[in-house]
Amino acid sequence: MSKIKIALFGLGTIGTGVADIFLNKKEHIRKITGHDVSLAQICDKDTLSKRDINIPSDILTNNPDSIFNNPEISVGIELIGGIEPARTFVLQLLNNGKNVVTANKALLAQHGAELFEAARRNNCTIAFEAAVCGGIPIISSIATSLQANTILSINAIVNGTSNFILSQMEDGGTSYSDAVKEAQKLGYAEANPAMDVDGTDAVQKLTILAQLGFGADIDWKNISRMGIESVDAIDFKFAKNLGYRIKLLAVANRGDDGLELHVAPTLVKRDSPLARVHNAFNAVQVVGDYVGPAFFQGLGAGRKPTASAVVGDVIDTILGRTKITFDTLNLWNKNNEIVPIKNINNFYGKSYLRFDAEDRPGVMRDFAAVFGKKNISIASMIQHEISNPDNNNSNKQRAVIILITHESSEGDLLEAIKELENIPSIQGKIIRMRVQD
Ligand code: HSE
Repeated sequence: MSKIKIALFGLGTIGTGVADIFLNKKEHIRKITGHDVSLAQICDKDTLSKRDINIPSDILTNNPDSIFNNPEISVGIELIGGIEPARTFVLQLLNNGKNVVTANKALLAQHGAELFEAARRNNCTIAFEAAVCGGIPIISSIATSLQANTILSINAIVNGTSNFILSQMEDGGTSYSDAVKEAQKLGYAEANPAMDVDGTDAVQKLTILAQLGFGADIDWKNISRMGIESVDAIDFKFAKNLGYRIKLLAVANRGDDGLELHVAPTLVKRDSPLARVHNAFNAVQVVGDYVGPAFFQGLGAGRKPTASAVVGDVIDTILGRTKITFDTLNLWNKNNEIVPIKNINNFYGKSYLRFDAEDRPGVMRDFAAVFGKKNISIASMIQHEISNPDNNNSNKQRAVIILITHESSEGDLLEAIKELENIPSIQGKIIRMRVQD
């Protein structure tokens, strides 16, 4: 039985979970791999804080070079997160002939091409199951089990924190800020939780899924993105009346004229599988031309589910399975055929809009005229009096207007929103979500 030594960078929430598995499930891993696999080194800038598992002090270091220069280490796990120093460390590992396992979606979404090129050049591999949807084996499913298919669409809840927040607000009546704090306490949120709620994390994961499923090479910053910061208790109430739940959806849709990519809070039918995904659970619905719809659900954030994916990748790397997939997929290779990305103005879909307006004759005519001009048809509308009008406008009766449009182009809708926001009788911003039937 040969000895295999691996190293870990980053002893935070996920890193501690990974260390826990390697230190406490040695026999299990020995049985699967047929090797004596040991976590030989852990690098973290903080070597002093006490962790809630027992880490042998002799394997802990704050000197990354001691890993890069250790010829016995064959696999490096990167769980630092963010771009630097993670990027430099991954390149160092690859340039020193070590395979990499990472959970870093931000890094892959931004530097995938550079890192994969470095891996190919050094005859190494990068495995990244944990970068998208934590414990759900979605990367390996698309990469291997579904490979007979042309992927037609991916509709997914990929951010556990925002799904947790939306679920708590809708089902528990929790305030937005309390739900954010709770998600942080439970270890779901990013170091900067703004990236969870503003859709950045979801867009980065969508970038990886788009590369894997469609060969789409896109800068994540160019993907249309809306977050959940403006979702209010009132939206859940109206969505429920209209037969929907609100989810932050990441969508990739292949059409004749290219690939549609976006992340947005979306009203989904209450009886649909995605509507029933709660709390920190993630879900991915993949439609392939032969398999039809396939639905994956599991915990997408948190120490144990993410550590499960990381260790699965390490085992695959040791057994040589990663190498086969890595070479076959040839990801982020500029020589690959690239599916063109559709211009956002040409997306078509239904929308949910909410805004406050003066409650007096003629107001509805004013905003209906904007929709008419843009050729946008209104499917349903609710108006509610605001019982406690804003003090500044106490002489004016106000109402909240909720409406759902029929399908329109994104370009027309965005122009209509701009015009609506300029109507004097409409106060504040138009809150907009997508609607999926
Ligand atoms: N902050 C992320 C989430 C963690 O909430 O989904 C997993 O990437």
